[in-house]
Amino acid sequence: MYICLCHAVRTVEINDAVAAGHRDLEAIAKELGVATSCGTCAGHAQAIIDSALANDIPNETQYYAA
Ligand code: FES
Repeated sequence: MYICLCHAVRTVEINDAVAAGHRDLEAIAKELGVATSCGTCAGHAQAIIDSALANDIPNETQYYAA
């Protein structure tokens, strides 16, 4: 699902960024551009980050490993 329409950032990309060690919105904004234009997505992006941190979601490559 697209979270940031300005930068075409999807949930999976935010989860992957968290799994790669980007632990807050500021770090993920620098990495993906999310919430750096209109800012409408910031709250939703933060909720996804919080959920990913709480669930320790692995990145996409880990889903398909082995
Ligand atoms: S929707 Fe994310 S910055 Fe505009």
